[in-house]
Amino acid sequence: MSEVHVMDHPLIQHKISYIRREDVGTKEFREVISEIASLMCYEATRDLKLQDVTIKTPICEMVGKELTGKKLAVVPILRAGLGMVDGMLSLIPAAKVGHIGLYRDESNGSTTHEYYCKLPFDIANREVIILDPMLATGGSAVKAINIVKKAGAKQIKFMCIVTCPQGLKAVQDAHPDVDIITGAIDEGLNENLYIVPGIGDCGDRLFGTK
Ligand code: PRP
Ligand code: URA
Repeated sequence: MSEVHVMDHPLIQHKISYIRREDVGTKEFREVISEIASLMCYEATRDLKLQDVTIKTPICEMVGKELTGKKLAVVPILRAGLGMVDGMLSLIPAAKVGHIGLYRDESNGSTTHEYYCKLPFDIANREVIILDPMLATGGSAVKAINIVKKAGAKQIKFMCIVTCPQGLKAVQDAHPDVDIITGAIDEGLNENLYIVPGIGDCGDRLFGTK
């Protein structure tokens, strides 16, 4: 079974409470989503491999550490995952970026449609972190992980900001090898399959489309 990491760092918890407020406007919402993503990047990259490297400081020679092993790719699920990309790249600027376009059917919420996919050509040789602020029913996450696996990726993590038990279960059932990093696990879903209490429609709030 995959692991679920809840980021309980006070800065992350504070910022999530801030964006939950309905009167937070698009500009601030976007800025804070990006800040949360960069803070969460620490946890998502905690197990990156290091190797010894001999370096010379202005004082003397020493053995330090540097990153080794597989390179990274981040894959935002459009649209809302886009809001997390800059925050991630501020800490891992060399990561490649793939894009997967998915939307939930407005009429029933439980069907997910794919409309775009462009992944790094060498994704099979990279560690992949899929980004989406919301993991609700899990339909989008499960589909995105399917797509990335089909492209050859083997080491995959899923990073979201808010989720609920139903979304976690869906991803863990379908992809027990994919760890999930989240900022909060909310109560559940309402009749429209929105997370309760949640943050509302994340894509609309990020891009000001409603
Ligand atoms: C939202 C969100 C996730 C998805 C989560 O996207 O950004 O991708 O819903 O819900 P699920 O876990 O039930 O699949 P949406 O379909 O609203 O598209 P958008 O980001 O383009 O607005
Ligand atoms: N997508 C969102 O943007 N918000 C939810 O609560 C669920 C899915």
